[in-house]
Amino acid sequence: MSEASGESRFEGKVTLVTGGASGIGEATSRRLASEGATVVVVDLDADLGQALADSVDRIEYERVDVTDGEQVAALMDGIVSRHGRLDGVHANAGIETPPLLLADTPDEWFDKAVAVNTKGVFLTCKHAIRHMLELGGGSICCTSSIHDVASYPMIGVYAISKAAVGATVRAIAADYSTRNIRANAILPGATLTPMVKREVEDAEDPVLQQKLMDGLQAMKRCADPSEIAAAAAFLLSDDASFITGASLPVDGGSLSLLPGPDLLDPDLHHSEA
Ligand SMILES: NC(=O)c1ccc[n+]([C@@H]2O[C@H](COP(=O)([O-])OP(=O)(O)OC[C@H]3O[C@@H](n4cnc5c(N)ncnc54)[C@H](O)[C@@H]3O)[C@@H](O)[C@H]2O)c1
Repeated sequence: MSEASGESRFEGKVTLVTGGASGIGEATSRRLASEGATVVVVDLDADLGQALADSVDRIEYERVDVTDGEQVAALMDGIVSRHGRLDGVHANAGIETPPLLLADTPDEWFDKAVAVNTKGVFLTCKHAIRHMLELGGGSICCTSSIHDVASYPMIGVYAISKAAVGATVRAIAADYSTRNIRANAILPGATLTPMVKREVEDAEDPVLQQKLMDGLQAMKRCADPSEIAAAAAFLLSDDASFITGASLPVDGGSLSLLPGPDLLDPDLHHSEA
């Protein structure tokens, strides 16, 4: 699937993508750049981040840890002093957690998941909003997960850490809608990024795990990262000018789907038809 859409909704705009060196963030960075934006990519992975910046004209890379408030504040100050604007922010950096039953989960994993997936999003939004208020507005898209609203076994602390993301965008809508600042969340279903590829490779039976990942969606496939990026770009763009505080599933129908006999057999629908 192509990163280029032929649209140019971000011409002259300055955007930030956290966790922008890989997966969904990389796809959003490429999509925003292809539509004319200057994109500041921040990520912990300097090799990937710099390689992306070297390969795409409008992308810059900066190493920032989104869990560190001072680094995030300095990042936003730097973007605004260099570029004079900050139009869109994709607060996307996130980590997965190991598969563990809730009562077996070390406290350390709760702290890690909340530090990146919850506090990292909070800090990114907080420090972006400080500048957006002075600059006359802006748009934020936070990456949550279908696990904000639905769980499956052994994903407890990840789901907990993502559940706060919807509350964050609703809080921003409540506080800043009259100041021209919008914030929304996307809830991706299983998406073929390095994160999910690691999950498949690390499973006892990788073939079965891939089948399970595909079977989570009504469409019986994982998303390509560009399909999630398209939704993020829409929410960041003026096309979504009357949408704020929303959590949008981008999930191939997974939240519409109850487990059924076809869960392990993606071909069942078709053989019955
Ligand atoms: N892939 C999926 O199926 C899926 C589904 C739902 C939600 N999500 C969410 O989408 C987002 C992107 O995930 P992905 O699948 O593209 O994963 P990914 O691992 O490919 O990319 C995540 C990026 O975030 C960066 N990152 C991690 N911690 C960071 C920190 N403290 N500061 C800065 N950067 C940091 C990583 O270095 C990495 O490059 C995450 O928030 C994830 O929870 C992914």
